[in-house]
Amino acid sequence: MNSFSLKNSTLHAENVALNQIATEFGTPCYVYSKAALTQAFERFSAGFAGTNHLVCFAVKANPSLAILNLFAKLGAGFDIVSGGELARVLAAGGDPKKIVFSGVGKTAIEMQAALNAGIFCFNVESASELSRLNKVAGEMGKVAPVSLRVNPNVDAKTHPYISTGLKNSKFGVAYEDALNVYAQAAAMPNIAIHGVDCHIGSQITELSPFLDAFDRVLLLVDALEQQGIHIQHIDAGGGIGICYNDETPPEFTAYAAAMRTKLGNRNVKLVFEPGRALVGNAGVLLTKVEYLKPTTSKNFAIVDAAMNDLMRPALYDAYHNIQPVQPRKDGHAAVYEIVGPVCESGDFLGHDRTLTLEEGDLLAIMSAGAYGMSMSSNYNTRPRAAEVMVDGGDSHLIRKREEIADLFALEKCLPQT
Ligand code: LLP
Repeated sequence: MNSFSLKNSTLHAENVALNQIATEFGTPCYVYSKAALTQAFERFSAGFAGTNHLVCFAVKANPSLAILNLFAKLGAGFDIVSGGELARVLAAGGDPKKIVFSGVGKTAIEMQAALNAGIFCFNVESASELSRLNKVAGEMGKVAPVSLRVNPNVDAKTHPYISTGLKNSKFGVAYEDALNVYAQAAAMPNIAIHGVDCHIGSQITELSPFLDAFDRVLLLVDALEQQGIHIQHIDAGGGIGICYNDETPPEFTAYAAAMRTKLGNRNVKLVFEPGRALVGNAGVLLTKVEYLKPTTSKNFAIVDAAMNDLMRPALYDAYHNIQPVQPRKDGHAAVYEIVGPVCESGDFLGHDRTLTLEEGDLLAIMSAGAYGMSMSSNYNTRPRAAEVMVDGGDSHLIRKREEIADLFALEKCLPQT
């Protein structure tokens, strides 16, 4: 099923025409399909049916309360990286006992909040963090459940900004040091060793880096067992890529089958932290063409969405397919730079797109459900976009567009002299 498709020559989200959404809620606007979100979660989980497992949605990919709430109802756990994400998950009805807490810089306050909530596991990323967690838990009279995030030194073969499993990355504990740090953890009174964790990067489109990393994690799990440290779960992280253009990422079923085969008969729970793969293709960014600006060298289509709404093209040179909501049957196609109003030359959403456009046309920036709204900002004092979730023939506003007054409501001038 494709949740975004042309019906009667108009692009729809499920059964709702995107031009209707633009009229009702304005642009720019993120539009998500409930069916696509549900299907992605169910497909991912189905690969592990019959295996003891937990799918923890990586909240950073899209922290919308409505999306978290939907996944919580489907049985998901959550991978968080801050006290803010913890609060969101709890506000959305997420089960604290299904939360894993990743991230290299957890503060004592964030640790306290997570211990109070009773989360499933802390994914600890350094020996110093381990000592701090032991101290914080001790002061609270609690024992912290822990996995060490190990860095398997595997090349994820993705964009360098989103590759995290190599030796030189700030993430995780070096593979060679892991046994030693586990031994330290075992001696700490307020730490309970529960698992091993690893996450090698994002938008990974081949199976082999996952399998190489998993092999190394399994070697470590077996070595720990020999030292009398029993591991109850392995967290294989996230990272499965999606198709933005012509990529062919691993199928969920192939990924699951390969991981299950490697796991063999070890009695451990498998934990996953997919973000992009669950939401990326379930959302689009709807935008309106404000101006067409032909120049001697390029044709610009200036739209009302910008790099502050969708940062991925500017930051990673990422490709997003761009489709007209109502493709024109006549008129002249031209090659356009699709750019926003922000005062930066890097403010583009797509290069060299052949489209037939007129001012006022609506465009859908496809595959914008992951790391779109979550990385948006107020740069140029631009209110962040509205978010709408479509469910069959209904559209629900799940986040109001910010108002300009909201943007400086927390600010103050100096006392007037
Ligand atoms: N677990 C950990 C510890 C992570 O750091 C991440 C993503 C995930 C899970 C989820 O990875 P996913 O399944 O979504 O690939 N802003 C970038 C992506 C940054 C990913 C950061 N970490 C982008 O727009 O491509």
